[in-house]
Amino acid sequence: MPHRPYVIDRMISAKRIAARVEALAHEITDAFKGTDKLVVVGLLRGSFIFIADLVREIDLPVEVDFIEASSYGAEMTSSREVRILKDLRSGIEGRDVLVVEDIVDTGHTLFHVVNMLMARKPKRLEVCALLDKPSRREVPIKATWTGFEIPDEFVVGYGIDFAQRNRNLPHIGKVRFTT
Ligand code: IMP
Ligand code: MG
Repeated sequence: MPHRPYVIDRMISAKRIAARVEALAHEITDAFKGTDKLVVVGLLRGSFIFIADLVREIDLPVEVDFIEASSYGAEMTSSREVRILKDLRSGIEGRDVLVVEDIVDTGHTLFHVVNMLMARKPKRLEVCALLDKPSRREVPIKATWTGFEIPDEFVVGYGIDFAQRNRNLPHIGKVRFTT
């Protein structure tokens, strides 16, 4: 799909991200201290770099699993309809679970995924989101841990895409259209 020309303005440097990820991992390690195993559930695809960096700083026995949830379309707005395209491989009943999301925007995706996972009766379920856009929220949900609160801008990089591009940027930038 063709897009209007745009540039990416740097918003959060790779260095700031790394420092924040380390701090989050320490808080998570403290919160789940004593667990026999923490099941870290990444939401594909946007969380893939965040989860890779985060788990390497978590000092606990960890299992990594993924869910792919999707709202329709490749637009800059997310739809309210959330579909599960790929579910977990393992059961989570009685387990400690950490859901890892890239961005909480309207909140519909996280709300749907958390409700679905809570129905499976984990012992404990918490959420770590790299970014939060609180001004965009449509359903009442908040991550236990948030990396950065950001204004209502469309961002890319560090795993996050615009129409499947720019996931490989090492920093987070905002999309600015030039026409
Ligand atoms: P929500 O269901 O509206 O909270 O949308 C969450 C999902 O929309 C995120 O996991 C992202 O995949 C996508 N999304 C929301 N904001 C942005 C953005 O600024 N850039 C890229 N993707 C975004
Ligand atoms: Mg996503």
